[in-house]
Formats: sequence, C-alpha cells, structure tokens
Amino acid sequence: MLLNTLVADPVAVFAEEVRAGLSGAGQKELPSKYLYDEIGSALFEVITLLPEYGLTRADESLLRLHSGEIAAGLSAPVVVAELGSGSGKKARWILQALARCQPTTYYPIEISHSALAMCERELDHIDRVSILGFETEYLDGLRRVVTRRRSGQHVLVLFLGSSIGNFDPGPAEEFLQHIRSLLVAGDALLLSTDLLKPVDRMVLAYDDPAGVTAAFNLNLLGRINRELEGDFDLCQFHHRALYNRLAQRIEMHLVPAARQSVRIHRADCEVVLEPDETIWTESSYKYSVQQVRQMAERAGFRCEKQWVYQEWPFALNLLAPD
Ligand SMILES: C[S@@+](CC[C@H](N)C(=O)[O-])C[C@H]1O[C@@H](n2cnc3c(N)ncnc32)[C@H](O)[C@@H]1O
Repeated sequence: MLLNTLVADPVAVFAEEVRAGLSGAGQKELPSKYLYDEIGSALFEVITLLPEYGLTRADESLLRLHSGEIAAGLSAPVVVAELGSGSGKKARWILQALARCQPTTYYPIEISHSALAMCERELDHIDRVSILGFETEYLDGLRRVVTRRRSGQHVLVLFLGSSIGNFDPGPAEEFLQHIRSLLVAGDALLLSTDLLKPVDRMVLAYDDPAGVTAAFNLNLLGRINRELEGDFDLCQFHHRALYNRLAQRIEMHLVPAARQSVRIHRADCEVVLEPDETIWTESSYKYSVQQVRQMAERAGFRCEKQWVYQEWPFALNLLAPD
C-alpha cells in the first residue's frame, strides 16, 4: 500500500529549484534528490552491483552480520521506518530478524515513485511483515510514521547507503537533530556512513569504467528535458567525479564540452554555460568513525555501537536518543 504526500505541484517545485540552481553568477548546482526519477533509480540499482561501488556490499554485509543482535537489543514492539529506502533490499535482514519475534510494520519513505514500487515488490512476501510506503520527503514521512505510533511502540529508523553524506556538514547535523526531535527513549536510528579510504578507490566508486554513474548523472539533464521541456544536448556534457580533500567529499559534476545555451521552457529560464562552468549535482562526504560519533552526539544521540567493515571501510552506527 502507498500513501502519496508529495507537494501539490511537484513539477512547479522542480522547475523553481532548477531555475534557482542554474541562474545567476557563481557555481551552478542542482539538488541531488532529482537524480532519482524512474531511469535514475534503475541506474542507481545497477551502480550498487558494480565492483567499484563498495558501499552497498559493505552495508549489506554489516546488516547481514548484525541484524540479529540489533533486533534483540530493541524493546518490542518495534516499527521500522526507512528514509530513502531505494529498492529496500538492505532492509530485508533487519525485517526478518524482527519478524522472528513480532509482527512488524515497515514504512519505506521515498521521493522516487519507481524506487518505492521496487521496494514493495522486493519485500512483499516476508512472513509477518506488512508494508506501508510513503511517497514523500524524508522528514515529512518520518513525522507521519511517529504520529501513527501506538502507545508503547518503538521506532527503528534506518538511514542507509551513507545517504547522510549527501548533506553538507551543517545541514547533516540539523537533519539528525530533526530526526532526534521525533524520537523518544527506546527508539533508535541505524545510520550507515562511508569512511575515508584511498582517493583512487573513492573516485572510482563514482566514476566507474562502464560509465553507469556517468549515465546516472547525465540523466538529470535528460529529466529536465523530459519534465521541464529543456533542450540540453546530453552529447555536449560529460560526467566528472573528483575528491575535494579539504572538504572530505566526492563531488559529481556535469561538464560542458563547449559553450552551451539552454532553454528550459517550464522553468522559464535560459542558461548559458561557459566551457569551464560545471553543474554540481551531488556531494558524498566521507568520515572517520570518530567524526560520525561526534556528529551524532552533537545532534543529541548516544552512539551505542559502531560496526566497521574493513574490506571497504564503512560503518554501521546504532544511535539512541540521548
Ligand atoms: C543513495 S540512494 C540510497 C538507497 C538505499 N537506501 C541504499 O542504501 O541503497 C538514496 C535514495 O533516497 C531517495 N531520496 C533522496 N532524497 C530524498 C528525500 N529528500 N526524501 C526522500 N527520499 C529521498 C532517493 O530517491 C534514493 O532512492
């Protein structure tokens, strides 16, 4: 079952954010959440299978190994809310572990309609698990979940895939504070975070030789063409992933091959891009385990446990409201 609470006119909001991000002087930017339309979500699923993209393998291995222990440490009854569930395949381990002890409700929260549909197909047949999806933004979905909670029920929030790394540090902390403000004693947040590692491994994860991540990034211009009647020539752009050492983040950009003049009809704007002028589409911050713990503590959480995957340095962090 699916509850759709997206804003009244999502195309108008998309148009406004595209106009704001591409107009004016200075660095051009587009919000990374728009990477995930039907094509983007399908391409992201392929990215998770690439040998260069170690994040998903690390996350899945940690969840497979530790879900039993995590479920056993929570006070029942528990409902599970997942922020940006994607295809939902990682939630399987925790849902199966919980469902051994109690019937479990799972609330995937997603802005991508097709990702939510994938998630519901993926997890449809787990014994004693019922699914209610929210097609909406992270915090709006979580607010709706906590207002449904029955007396004595606890909420386990999943925020996996190191999606926290898509926020700049200040907004990441504010976001965690918002989550914290919706939780009570006995609730928990399971947060996964990609850790610092050699630069070439980090860059390759976002610039695979098969070009899947490049297609994922370029699709954002395709989406603008399809939904906002833009006339980007995708052949005139290429994908660039770079590591910004000072900021500890991978940046994804779209780089024009030559001067581009683009009309985006439904955003009512005309954009001129010089050859050295990139469009910044995504940041993925990398952390040390100490930085994750400190960020969580500043946001009002207690770090109960951190499990680290060594092969692809990555941490699964179990946080409790302090
Ligand atoms: C990096 S993917 C991670 C997917 C999955 N959690 C995983 O670990 O593989 C981020 C997911 O969050 C969704 N998403 C991005 N921004 C969102 C927002 N503001 N509110 C709700 N969902 C969002 C995207 O549609 C996408 O499916």
